[in-house]
Amino acid sequence: VNFASDNVAGISPEIVAAIAAASTGTAAPYGDDALTARVESRCADIFEHQVAVFPVATGTAANALALASLMPPWSVVYCHEAAHILGDECGAPEFFGGGVRISGIAGNDGKLDAASLATALGQRGGHGVHHMQAAAVSITQASEAGRVYAAGEIAAIAEVARGAGLKLHMDGSRFANAVASLDCAPADITWRAGVDVLCLGATKNGAACAEAVVFFDPADAAEFAFRRKRGGHLLSKMRFISAQLVAYLADDLWLRNARHANRMAARLADGLASLPGIRLRYPVEANEVFVDLPDRVSDGLLAAGFGFYPRGGHGDRFVRLVTAFSTIEADVDAFVAAATALTDRPGVR
Ligand SMILES: Cc1ncc(COP(=O)(O)O)c(C=O)c1O
Repeated sequence: VNFASDNVAGISPEIVAAIAAASTGTAAPYGDDALTARVESRCADIFEHQVAVFPVATGTAANALALASLMPPWSVVYCHEAAHILGDECGAPEFFGGGVRISGIAGNDGKLDAASLATALGQRGGHGVHHMQAAAVSITQASEAGRVYAAGEIAAIAEVARGAGLKLHMDGSRFANAVASLDCAPADITWRAGVDVLCLGATKNGAACAEAVVFFDPADAAEFAFRRKRGGHLLSKMRFISAQLVAYLADDLWLRNARHANRMAARLADGLASLPGIRLRYPVEANEVFVDLPDRVSDGLLAAGFGFYPRGGHGDRFVRLVTAFSTIEADVDAFVAAATALTDRPGVR
């Protein structure tokens, strides 16, 4: 049983079948194929908006290339201080952006809030050419703490961003989990709320390696094709990335997978929260559970072979547990049962 990440999971059978089906016959290379065209038309339907869509193979490439297309190299991107683009992409956004700066802002539950953003923007230096220029804001949906931004929260951030002439980027690595959690129209938490570009994740939710950069204003996408090629993400056999996305977005597979993963996370959270000495760090809204486990429980679970990354180190172990489309109830229940047995022992700490 492995809750280390949602990318320890395999591939949805529907997506495996779609890759196999795309392998018959020949197709034009470099994205000039029918499947790639279908990704864009399907996204236009789902988002109820004209879009320019570019498949890439990783979330890091999606974020870095999307941000780079929105701004010149002397720009600053504001985000939450725990954002993946700031701490977990080895400087890819700075590299592809030609030296842009990513600036982290504190906020509860992994979320940026409009007031803190306004304060940070108000503290910018006004020394013209001597200062880097604010160009964009990035938010992560669902957040790095597994919380979900409601449409109103995004709209408030967008209003501050737009007021300062900034673009709004969304890292939607777990976008499907957020839509499933909010039970909203995808448009409500993207362009209708003021998002300019979405990096729509699929890999964590059933694809093998597929993400889509979705621009809601095709004018913002003018340079993207060149940046993607130059960045090594224009796959010659693009149809196999696109086949994954077409299957992912067909018959609501993306939402069915996400709903299931979210349900498994809720089940895990409920089971753990009922145990003495175990505390959830954040409300569970998507497919991630952040929990403080007593050392003995954490060590015991790891020794028993359960997979997860302990994040803490001071006293109680702060642990992230991630469920996926393929998580089964028996796995969740086995984890909770093992944790129960460990907490039942006297002297738990
Ligand atoms: C919030 C978030 N954004 C982006 C990524 C990047 O995805 P990849 O590992 O495919 O580059 C991840 C992956 O862990 C993530 O959690």
